[in-house]
Amino acid sequence: MPLDKASCQQLDREDPLAFCRERFELPDELIYLDGNSLGAMPSSMPRVMQQTLDSEWSGDLIQSWNKAGWAQLSQTLGDRVGRLVGADQDQIVVCDTTSANLYKAIRAACDMRPERNVILTELDNFPTDLYIIEGAMTGVAREMRREIVAQQDILDSLDDKVAILVLSHINYKTGEILPMLEITEAAHRVGALVIWDLSHSAGVLPIELDECEVDFAVGCTYKYLNAGPGAPAFIYVASRHIAQARQPLNGWWGHAEPFAFEDEFRPAGNISRFLCGTQPVLSLKGVACGLDSYAGVSMLQVREKSKGLCDLFIRLLGQECPDSRLQLIGPRCRERRGSQVSYRFEHGYALMQALIERGVVGDFRAPDLMRFGFSPLYIRYEDIWNAVQCLKICLQQKIWQQDKYHRRQPVT
Ligand SMILES: Cc1ncc(COP(=O)(O)O)c(C=O)c1O
Repeated sequence: MPLDKASCQQLDREDPLAFCRERFELPDELIYLDGNSLGAMPSSMPRVMQQTLDSEWSGDLIQSWNKAGWAQLSQTLGDRVGRLVGADQDQIVVCDTTSANLYKAIRAACDMRPERNVILTELDNFPTDLYIIEGAMTGVAREMRREIVAQQDILDSLDDKVAILVLSHINYKTGEILPMLEITEAAHRVGALVIWDLSHSAGVLPIELDECEVDFAVGCTYKYLNAGPGAPAFIYVASRHIAQARQPLNGWWGHAEPFAFEDEFRPAGNISRFLCGTQPVLSLKGVACGLDSYAGVSMLQVREKSKGLCDLFIRLLGQECPDSRLQLIGPRCRERRGSQVSYRFEHGYALMQALIERGVVGDFRAPDLMRFGFSPLYIRYEDIWNAVQCLKICLQQKIWQQDKYHRRQPVT
């Protein structure tokens, strides 16, 4: 039976996460399908920022490092991220960027496998991951080799030369989930360490880092975790590795006693050794607001809704735009799909611009991919209906043909 708007509205009435939408600031007329790139702003953000400015920064000034707990924010927030990604406490710090954290993890892991010289990764990995591997290798005392293979060849490429396997948990283009447990176990069988990039999975599906015995993980907070543009990332190091894992950025915040001001670097005995310099407190407060939005929410509920939203979008697109030349990329199976769907379309950039102008915001990845991300905390089933209706009009009327939609902006 074809779906209609009323049936989508019914799904919203039955949605156990419907109450979460109020936790975000979203313009009334906007359908925001880009939470996989930059999450929406939590409503608590202005208040928390104002309070930080008024009482902490302008009021207590430098005392706030102690009094307001600024000095421990990276660790306390790390523990809170841990609850969303299946990590017991004292294994995560929130700091720096995902790229920088990946660099630290790679260098630490290389030193932990001194007899091996291959860093294995996947062809479709996010470019920064590929670049950082390349850059990190040049700092290793022995000659390292980066081996980039197709996703289906990952397991067959694991052998006793592989020091580290670096993978994204969810593919940023296709939304495909890689099986974390199976791959981690396979890497461990040949003695390799695994670094997972959780940028597209943290906060949108249950993850069990400890249970999967993951070695290292990194990830963004500004996507599904809604911490704000450029908010600090996180890094996880399994507790069994912390004592021997040495990252190369010997900054004072990673020292065992930063305020002893010793001349020699002595790494902290805990996860704090993965810090480097002073962290951006205001941005860390953004991470706190983002994490607050998960109060009373289970990741199983988030995952269920995420699957429901993606399924609905795919089904409605087939129903409402049967003759579109949009080609679904990535898994049809809901269990293997993250919280985004991607379509290949020759004029994808222009079509996305036309949608954005009409209040339906997704994004575009060269050369021809249109991505639609679904943040279960604030997207409604009715939004999916309305987004597909807009897409239908743009396709039927070939609105994307207008010249103005073909002019490329720097950020796509
Ligand atoms: C999979 C993945 N890793 C890393 C990054 C980049 O993270 P950062 O800008 O914090 O270095 C992104 C950004 O979109 C990403 O999608």
